[in-house]
Amino acid sequence: MNATQTILTGVKPTGSPHIGNLLGAIRPAIELANRPDVASLLFIADYHAVTSAPAPDELRALTYEVTATWLSLGTDPKKTIVYRQSDVPETFELAWILSCFTEKGLMNRAHAYKAKTAENEAAGRDADHGVNIGLYSYPVLMSADIVVHDAHKVPVGADQVQHLEIARDIVQKLNHHAGKEVLRAPEALVQETVAVVPGLDGRKMSKSYQNTIPIFLESKKLRKLVMKIKTDSSAPEDPKDPAKSDIFAMYKHFATKEEVAALAKRYQTGIGWGEAKEALYLALDRELAGPRAKYEALMADTGTLEKILKEGGARARVSAQRTLSRVRQALGLN
Ligand code: TRP
Repeated sequence: MNATQTILTGVKPTGSPHIGNLLGAIRPAIELANRPDVASLLFIADYHAVTSAPAPDELRALTYEVTATWLSLGTDPKKTIVYRQSDVPETFELAWILSCFTEKGLMNRAHAYKAKTAENEAAGRDADHGVNIGLYSYPVLMSADIVVHDAHKVPVGADQVQHLEIARDIVQKLNHHAGKEVLRAPEALVQETVAVVPGLDGRKMSKSYQNTIPIFLESKKLRKLVMKIKTDSSAPEDPKDPAKSDIFAMYKHFATKEEVAALAKRYQTGIGWGEAKEALYLALDRELAGPRAKYEALMADTGTLEKILKEGGARARVSAQRTLSRVRQALGLN
């Protein structure tokens, strides 16, 4: 089947992805990318990370970690073009061009920048304290990441929807100036299926709450963490409502239909929390053991990771160069 849509996924190089990331973003994006009617690109946004000036060795290591994460969880590098943003220099040329079609006021209104200035003002500092131009114009670079490959759709969390609107706005301005549709306006694909995955303390699983279960935790540590999930003080023999249990909510994503039905029954007849946690741990461990082994093998073989990224970069440059020459032509550049 011919690919009818190009889907592009961008991931910032940050460490230790957790179960919340897996269910909310990684799994759905991989399922989409593996569909036969979809052409897909996945890139590690290493230039975006530079806005916070990470240690060079750390940035390199994190780039490998993110790449190994997605590959071990099912991204097929033969189908999906997997690359590092810094291997596609056309992105940055396009970012400059796009910045010339970006109203400064549009950047002033971007959520991330507004949050930063609000934080500064609340602390009695200058509004722009600690804001570099890279951070300020981040949405322009993100727009370039997307439109340089003529992507139709971008799977994102709700927090990124505004960035896609900004991209569309910039594209429209450039197209209007050129008098034709030079660039494609991308659409956000918001993942809402698994809205909130509860963390160890019952709040949304999030790094900032320190309540996460990392995906690649070694089996024993995984068990220990699962045993820490917060529960109420009901007695083991008390009937329990599966719909109100965080353990059950997570179990549903990792167990078979039959297993889920069986556990629901156990809840109704009374189950000790320790037993429920044990069931969850076993399901998680069964599901994650394969990816964990693959992840470790990849991390021990950065040569292979490097090769995949380089090959992906070369493939990604083909569409990027095509877009760039179209844009240059349309704008009267060489
Ligand atoms: N801004 C995105 C985030 O913080 C990462 C990102 C950068 C991205 N460029 C992108 C996502 C292009 C999708 C498409 O998660």
